[in-house]
Amino acid sequence: MARRKRIRLVVAIAASIAVVAPLAWLWAGSNVPPTYSVMGMGYPDYGGGRVEGTHAAHGEHAWVGPPRRSGEVSVADLTGPRVGRPDVSATLVARQGAVRLPTGQRFAGYTVNGTSPGPTIRARQGDLVQVRLVNAGIRDGVTLHWHGVDVPNAEDGVAGVTQNAVPAGGSYTYRFVARQSGTYWYHSHQVAHEQVRDGLFGMLVVAPRRAPPPVAADVVAPVHDYDGLRTIAGRSGVTHVDAPPGGTVRVRLADTDNGPIRAWVSGSPYRVVAVDGHDVDRPPPVTARAVLLGAGGRSDLELTVPRDGRAARVDLDGAALVIGPPGSSAAAAPAPERNVDLLSYGSPAPVALAQARPDRRFEYSMGRRPGFVDGRPGLFWTVNGHMFPDVPMFVVRKGDVVRMKISNSSGQVHPMHLHGHHVLVLSRDGVRATGSPWWADTLEVENGETYEVAFVADNPGIWMDHCHNLPHVAEGLVVHLAYAGVWEPYRVGVSNNSPE
Ligand code: C2O
Ligand code: CU
Repeated sequence: MARRKRIRLVVAIAASIAVVAPLAWLWAGSNVPPTYSVMGMGYPDYGGGRVEGTHAAHGEHAWVGPPRRSGEVSVADLTGPRVGRPDVSATLVARQGAVRLPTGQRFAGYTVNGTSPGPTIRARQGDLVQVRLVNAGIRDGVTLHWHGVDVPNAEDGVAGVTQNAVPAGGSYTYRFVARQSGTYWYHSHQVAHEQVRDGLFGMLVVAPRRAPPPVAADVVAPVHDYDGLRTIAGRSGVTHVDAPPGGTVRVRLADTDNGPIRAWVSGSPYRVVAVDGHDVDRPPPVTARAVLLGAGGRSDLELTVPRDGRAARVDLDGAALVIGPPGSSAAAAPAPERNVDLLSYGSPAPVALAQARPDRRFEYSMGRRPGFVDGRPGLFWTVNGHMFPDVPMFVVRKGDVVRMKISNSSGQVHPMHLHGHHVLVLSRDGVRATGSPWWADTLEVENGETYEVAFVADNPGIWMDHCHNLPHVAEGLVVHLAYAGVWEPYRVGVSNNSPE
């Protein structure tokens, strides 16, 4: 009897060890050291391309990152023009404390020059833009990332990757040439999931070099939820915009929030004239369709104010713009069932990149499974089956034509944002793009969807490629695109650096 009991005990213990030991191993393997180089995490993925001259052995340099080799350029040296008088110059002072919206509500959060959103920076294509960021007391530190602007790497504003977080009392100057016209935004990329949510952002609008025909109103409309309150450019409820009957109005929508937003127009047909800063080719008028923006994305709408004295209305599910002569109004319209599909919207135009033979092909396949990240158990995002920090590092050489297949079987939508580049959408779920060339910097990938995109690796550096639902990044849905021959001097964890 006793013997039987003992055997049972031994079996039970062995069974427990069989369960616990791999868990302990997984737990230990998931630990992230307090400081590390993003170049030292995960494993390199060369996308089937040539590898010589690249860091072939991340494993050897786990966490600390590879040492600098001769001939390599440091991220810190990939700056914009260091000399020359700026055409646009601004000082942005970031502060933590009370946010007071123009419509009166107050929240605890962050401001830029005293408001949230911060001031809109306006430039003309080709301008040298200089922005001095001052940290007026934010203890975690702060940075500014120019979302959608393909700036030189050292101006990209990612703490621990392209610079150190600017400490309280410190300042940092960004300089870059605004080569692309369109609607962009800036936001902190230090503890981003908290700082952006709580107000540390603003808009950047770049006018085309050749002045477009004037519009009756140009409305800059970042859409953001403060503590659950939907706002447009910081205003809750209905905002009236003055514009004469028959006037053409441009509305620059930006989703600065973490979830998707839908916008729809009543009282006038409208056109989607630009997406993520890129003009749409011959956009047709839209009726009875909404526009969908993923977190971080932008859509510029153009509409005409009715001639009968009434207003047009842009509804954003909880907040709205009413656009017309003073005193005019327009009732809320119900949300259309369907969205404009950018895959077939506008007129096609040949783009050499669509035909070019790729030098590398990458897969960015998102899933979710239980496991450990940094010693914490949970249900975590995966990239190509791997969990943070064991995720791929996409390695390219300057000049490569790159194809990337982005797929999502994680159960949730992910707005995917590649820094420093715009990607051309080739297909979705095997259906080829037939509309205007669709250039995206923030691509909403629904659960179950697969996109094929292409881009040219023409901007050397170390670039984040992540989901823009910022809590997801903090949970590990982030990889990097690394150029061969570029060396990384910054460290996450040093100088408080915490980009997510
Ligand atoms: Cu707008 Cu890495 O972010
Ligand atoms: Cu996500």
